[in-house]
Amino acid sequence: MTALTLSTAGAATLRADAVVVGVAKGAKGPVVAPGAEAVDKAFGGKLAAVLETLGVTGAEGEATKVPAPAGLKAPVVLAVGLGAEPDSRSAGDAGAEYAEETLRRAAGVAARALAGAKKAAFALPVAAAEDVQAIGEGALLGAYAFTAFQAVPKDARGPLGEAALLGAKPRDKAHKAAAERAVTVAEEINRARDLVNTPPNELNPASFAAVATAAGKEHGVKVQVLDEKALTKGGYGGILGVGVGSEAPPRLVKLSYTHSKAEKSLAFVGKGITYDSGGISLKPAGHNETMKCDMAGAAAVFAAVVAAARLGLQVNVTGWLALAENMPSGSATRPGDVLRMYSGKTVEVLNTDAEGRLVLADALAKASEETPDAIVDVATLTGAMVLALGSRTFGIMSNDDAFRTELHEIAEEVGEPSWPMPLPADLRKGMDSPTADIANMGERMGGGLVAGLFLKEFVGEGITWAHVDIAGPAFNEAGPFGYTPKGGTGSAIRTLVRLAERTADGDLG
Ligand code: BES
Ligand code: MN
Ligand code: ZN
Repeated sequence: MTALTLSTAGAATLRADAVVVGVAKGAKGPVVAPGAEAVDKAFGGKLAAVLETLGVTGAEGEATKVPAPAGLKAPVVLAVGLGAEPDSRSAGDAGAEYAEETLRRAAGVAARALAGAKKAAFALPVAAAEDVQAIGEGALLGAYAFTAFQAVPKDARGPLGEAALLGAKPRDKAHKAAAERAVTVAEEINRARDLVNTPPNELNPASFAAVATAAGKEHGVKVQVLDEKALTKGGYGGILGVGVGSEAPPRLVKLSYTHSKAEKSLAFVGKGITYDSGGISLKPAGHNETMKCDMAGAAAVFAAVVAAARLGLQVNVTGWLALAENMPSGSATRPGDVLRMYSGKTVEVLNTDAEGRLVLADALAKASEETPDAIVDVATLTGAMVLALGSRTFGIMSNDDAFRTELHEIAEEVGEPSWPMPLPADLRKGMDSPTADIANMGERMGGGLVAGLFLKEFVGEGITWAHVDIAGPAFNEAGPFGYTPKGGTGSAIRTLVRLAERTADGDLG
C-alpha cells in the first residue's frame, strides 16, 4: 500500500513528483487554501489567478495539474477542489476550518490523479490532528486499486508510492497518532474492499473464514469457525437453509478482540453472502452480476474488529460473520420450506432471495447470548433501501431511538452519509405465516423496514441493537469519486470503528 509520512519540510523544498494544494470556491473566484503559502509565493502570489485562467473554480472533485515555476523542488503542482470556502464569520476570529470529510475527499482525488507518481507532498490545510487523520485516510483510500485479477494491468502506472503530509508535525504526539490511526483504518478498509472485489468463484464461505483466521492470528484476534457440521449440531437452521443449495458449505465465524481493562462490550454482526443468486427465487439477469458484493457487511465487521485490535481500544469487540452462498440446486431451500432457526423460532421461506435476514437472524440470536452492551449488524440487505436512499447513503434502524441517533451522528462525524429509518410496528403483520412463527417476506412497500422488523425478532430481550443497511453504498457501480473507487467501498467501517472508540472512551450510552 501507499506509504504515509509526515514531513517538516516546506512545500517548496520537499523533493517530490508533485505538490498538492487545496483550492476553494471563494466569493470572487478560486482561493488558495492555507498550507500552500510557499507554493503560492513561488507563483509570485498569483496561483489563484493562474488557476482561474485555467478554468479552475475550486469545486469539489476538480484536479488540475500545473507545471511548477522555478523555486519549487517538485516539478508539478496539483490543485484539488475543496468546494465552498468555509465561512469565517460563523467560525469566529480563529478563522474557518475545512470539514474533515472535505479534506478526506480532496486527498482521495489527489491520490487518484497522481497514480504512478513515486512521492507527492500534500500541502492541504491542517488545523488539527483530526485533519491529519482525514487527509491520511483520503490519500491511502484514494490510492487503492484492485488489480489481483488482471494478467495485463489496466493501469501500468500503479498507485501513488508515498503521500508526505506537510503542515502536520511529526514530533507532535497527537499528529503522529492521527497518522498511525489513518494507516490502520485505511489498511482495514482496503482489506475489506479486496474481499468485496474478489470474485465469488475465489471467495466462498470457507475461503473467507480462512482469510479471517489468518488475519486474526496476525493481529491478536481470536477466531472460531463453525463449519457445516458444527452448524448442524448447533441448530443454525437459518445459515444452513441459505447455504444448503451450494457446493460451498456455510460458515459462522466468531472474531473476539478483548482488552483486559474493558468495561463495555460490542457485538458486530455481518451479512456474508459470498454470492447471492437469489436461490430458487432466482434473480433475473441484470440483477446478479454484482452480487459478489453481498458479503460487504461481513467484510466491514471483519475489518472493524481487526482495526479495533490494532488500535488497542479499551473495549471488547466480538464480530460475527454469517457466511453462506445462496444458490439454486436440487438441494436448495424451496419457497414454502420452513426453517427451524437457532433461536428456536420457525420461519416460512416465501422467497429464497430474502436470504440475508435468515443468516443474520441466527447470528443475532447467537450474539445476544453473550449480552453485549450493544449489537450492530451491517448488511447489504434490501434493494428497497437503495430505492429509498440512493447509492451513497446507508439506512440505520434500531430498537433504541437514542442509539440510532448516536450511530447517525457518528457516521456523520467520520464522513459516511447515513439516515435514520423507522421500524413501523404495523408492517409486522405482513410477515404473519399460517404455518410458521414468521415468514421471511412481508409487504413490498417499505421493504427495507420490513427486513429490519424481521431481524428485530431475533435480537435478545433487552439488548440495544441497530441494523445498518448498506445495500446502496457498499458497492460503487458508477465511476470513482473522492476517495471512493469503483467496486467495493468499505462502507460502514469507519462508523463501526468510531463507535468502538467512543465506547472505549466511555462516551456512549
Ligand atoms: N442482496 C440483496 C439486496 C441487494 C440489492 C443488495 C441490491 C445490493 C444491491 C438481498 O438479498 C435481496 O435479494 N433482497 C430482496 C428481498 C426481497 C426478496 C424481499 C430485495 O431487496 O429485492
Ligand atoms: Mn437476496
Ligand atoms: Zn442478499
